Amino acid sequence: MPSSSSPARLVVLVSGSGTNLQALLDACEDPAYGAQVVAVGADRHDIEGLRRADRAGVPTFVKQVRDYESRDNWDRVLTKAVAGFEPDLVVLAGFMKLVGPTFIEAFGGRTVNTHPALSPSFPGMSGPADALEYGVKVTGCTLFVVDAGVDTGPIVAQSAVPVLDDDDVDSLHERIKVAERAMLADNVGLMARVGFTITDRKVRFNR
Ligand code: GRF
Repeated sequence: MPSSSSPARLVVLVSGSGTNLQALLDACEDPAYGAQVVAVGADRHDIEGLRRADRAGVPTFVKQVRDYESRDNWDRVLTKAVAGFEPDLVVLAGFMKLVGPTFIEAFGGRTVNTHPALSPSFPGMSGPADALEYGVKVTGCTLFVVDAGVDTGPIVAQSAVPVLDDDDVDSLHERIKVAERAMLADNVGLMARVGFTITDRKVRFNR
């Protein structure tokens, strides 16, 4: 993490509406937050997440998997694009692609992702739908340090959210996202300000 005088540099990757990105952009407006979003990357064009970055005056880039002959090439190009902004921390905020080995080698241990379920339950792309179908009464969201698996990395923070009797996938996911945005902004700020260590999967803040 950076010195106390300079804010941590965040590169945020998005694939969709970018409300989690917006929570970070809003938090970064306070100099005491200790971080700034220096770039936003995406795996697709024409998404609200990129427009949010534009409106905030943050540089953007897009790397689409289909523009490269292999997934490994895409991973290398994505890694290079992110590295160009010299991040202290990379935040996957609704980024709907698995990053590959080159990315993990470059940014492992300092890349976090947010997942709309309480890990280790319901990993993958449809956490809210899977929780609803299973019939759990409590679900939530998880912030974790990215490793090579699917939503398997060391857990930074979790927040619980009730499942209501009349929920559908959208209403449940929206309730989760309210908790997710707060969890993300609170914990990325802490990671930036005080730093953290990972020992035997346990993530602890240095305070
Ligand atoms: C979040 O719930 C994230 O965990 C999931 O997709 C959602 C993205 O929301 N993977 P947004 O793009 O930040 O609004």
